[in-house]
Amino acid sequence: MPKNLLISAGPTREKVDAVRFLSNRSSGKMGYAVAEAARDAGYHVTLVSGPTALPRPEGVEFIAVESAAEMAEAIKSRATEQAVIIMAAAVADYRPRQPSDRKLKKLPGDLVLELERTEDILASLGQIKRPGQLLVGFAAETDDLLANARGKLERKNLDWIVANDVSRHDRGMGADANAVTMIARDGRMLEFDIAAKSEIAQQIIKVITHE
Ligand code: CTP
Repeated sequence: MPKNLLISAGPTREKVDAVRFLSNRSSGKMGYAVAEAARDAGYHVTLVSGPTALPRPEGVEFIAVESAAEMAEAIKSRATEQAVIIMAAAVADYRPRQPSDRKLKKLPGDLVLELERTEDILASLGQIKRPGQLLVGFAAETDDLLANARGKLERKNLDWIVANDVSRHDRGMGADANAVTMIARDGRMLEFDIAAKSEIAQQIIKVITHE
């Protein structure tokens, strides 16, 4: 029986009004590459994806979502049957408190948009993690990469975190290449030098498969 692996990818969109949303620069490339690498390694893969311009990978179960709330629902409802869950999605941390179903009209002066927190999906998964399940996060950082990544690993009860420097244009968000450091709960650290996201994805899957 192939093991189940769920991977999230891409940005979320948080509705402002009928025609506007808040989102981020995530292209989904890293998460899609992980989905393909996991499929090729023999996992039964579920890819939960925010809106991206990428073609759907073949041979994986594909679930399209938009908002952080939809992503949370799609992932949490499938969490118990997964041997591995990897959160590569760039989930919005905030959403407009009062999204409008109509298009907002402009008025004189400035507009203040009130934002409320979204659910931290990975932290929720960390709380309901069952024994033997592997939970892997990504940490997108511009500053203090390793210290911030370790903090997230602890706080969200993860087994591994993939730390990602997003301050450079040749790697990470939007780029085709990436360079990452994987940090384990027990302190092990693995560095993967700059390479195509497909290669980084294969390395990540190799590490996880040998746990
Ligand atoms: N994440 C999540 N739900 C959120 C925000 C983040 O599941 N609402 C996950 C991401 O998919 C990623 C990890 O948490 O695997 C870290 O995301 P990141 O944006 O680096 O960190 P945050 O926890 O949002 O912290 P901060 O914004 O302070 O850096």
